[in-house]
Amino acid sequence: MPSSEPDPSTIVYFENRYVPLAEAHVGVLTHALNYGTGVFEGIRGYWDRGRNEILIARPIEHYVRWKRNAGILHLEIPPTAEELLEITVELLRRNAFRSDIYVRPLVWKSAQRIGVHADDRDSFTIVAVPFGVYMDSTKGIHAGVTSWRRLEDNAIPGRAKICGAYVNSALATDDVRRAGFDEAIFLSEDGHVAEGATCNIFMVRNGRLITPGAADNILEGITRGCIIDLARDLLHLEVAERSIDRSELYVCDELFLTGTAVEVAPVTMVDHRRVGTGVIGPVTSELRRLYTEATRGRIPQYANWIRRVAVPAPIHA
Ligand SMILES: Cc1ncc(COP(=O)(O)O)c(C=O)c1O
Repeated sequence: MPSSEPDPSTIVYFENRYVPLAEAHVGVLTHALNYGTGVFEGIRGYWDRGRNEILIARPIEHYVRWKRNAGILHLEIPPTAEELLEITVELLRRNAFRSDIYVRPLVWKSAQRIGVHADDRDSFTIVAVPFGVYMDSTKGIHAGVTSWRRLEDNAIPGRAKICGAYVNSALATDDVRRAGFDEAIFLSEDGHVAEGATCNIFMVRNGRLITPGAADNILEGITRGCIIDLARDLLHLEVAERSIDRSELYVCDELFLTGTAVEVAPVTMVDHRRVGTGVIGPVTSELRRLYTEATRGRIPQYANWIRRVAVPAPIHA
């Protein structure tokens, strides 16, 4: 579901200054715009109405991943993860958001000239916008295996959120949506299940939770890590990170997708076949509930997953 365009007066952090979104521009010859040489992140924050706070989910993990993955393209993000979090907190306060939000950090090769060889001019921005449900996870979705293959690590590393790599995700999403499915599932060139277009995938088979491993051309999702922890710690499930065959999707008991935007989305149909009994399964629904509780700060054991940001109450005349 595409989100609406943010208010142009939203304050964003752009090239070391806080400016309105309407003033944060790049030139048409920018290296990243022409060649896809940027790396982005996606972080969620959840509004706690009772306490006037926004709870940012796993911000340090996201910023550490962003900085490390930027290094794959020789992109430099000078601030530390903690300093990046401070900028984010400042954005939430300046914009006085009182809703769920999404944070989009982006670093890119910013030289403006013709030629694919990138020099060392890098820029970064952090934008925070109000953001609601990305995928309706209350009912199961119908996923389809796309004929596009997941990009290979030796072509464009899928473990980094590299701007140009998202052509792969856009093609797959367009492919399956035109065919009437809700979401795409990628296979790797070797025929194994990799992930969704913007999310990781899990299946439940014979009481075990199974997800493709880090070497299966996946983005090593932070939500994926949360789900593995919740499944092991609280549901005492065996979790295996191993390759999944396409046909296992057709015979498994439960299937679901995970991601910062997607959260936990149950898949009840895949390629016109019912998953299990065709309704949301018990493991999926319990993990979805636990993920919601943990990211809303309601499970003390996972309090360190979130950073609470107090948002000033509006002044009433
Ligand atoms: C290709 C891809 N896989 C997986 C994910 C899930 O990652 P995370 O849980 O860190 O948001 C994303 C998120 O944007 C993604 O783009």
